[in-house]
Amino acid sequence: AETAPTVEDLMTDIVGRLQQYLPHYNWVGFYMIEKSLLPGVDPVLVLGPYVGAPTTHTRIPLNEGICGAAVTTGDTVIVDDVNSDPRYLACSLETKSEIVVPIRMKGEIVGELDIDSHDAAAFGDEDRTFCEFCAKLVGEYLERTT
Ligand code: SME
Repeated sequence: AETAPTVEDLMTDIVGRLQQYLPHYNWVGFYMIEKSLLPGVDPVLVLGPYVGAPTTHTRIPLNEGICGAAVTTGDTVIVDDVNSDPRYLACSLETKSEIVVPIRMKGEIVGELDIDSHDAAAFGDEDRTFCEFCAKLVGEYLERTT
C-alpha cells in the first residue's frame, strides 16, 4: 500500500517546483520553528527542505535576520536590496533580494518560506500573493495532518 505523503514531501515538492519554474527564484527553502522543552531556551528557526546553494544558516534565532523579522512582525518581508538591510544574514554573495513569508497553523506562526534571488528587487505583488498561497498550502496541510 502507498503511504501518504508527509509534510516534508510537500515542502520538498514546493521548493523544487518553485526553483524549476521561476528562474529568478535562485534559493528556495523552508524554515520551521523549533521550540525547546527546556525553560528559558528561546525558539529557533531550523532549516528544512531547500534547493540552491548550501547555507551556513541552518538555525536562526527569531531576533536575527530577515527570517527572524518575518516571524516577529508576523508578516511577509520583502527586501529589494539585501546589502542595504542591516538585518540581512548573508548566505550567498550572489543574493540581491529576498522574500520571507510566515506559515501559520491555526493562527500561530510555525515556520516560513524563504526565497533569495540573484536579481535586485525580484519580488513584487504577484510573488507575494503566490508565495503566501504556497505558505498557506503548507499551513493547511499541517492543520489537517497533525
Ligand atoms: N538571508 C536570511 C538567512 C537565510 S538565507 O537567505 C538562506 C536572513 O537574513 O534571515
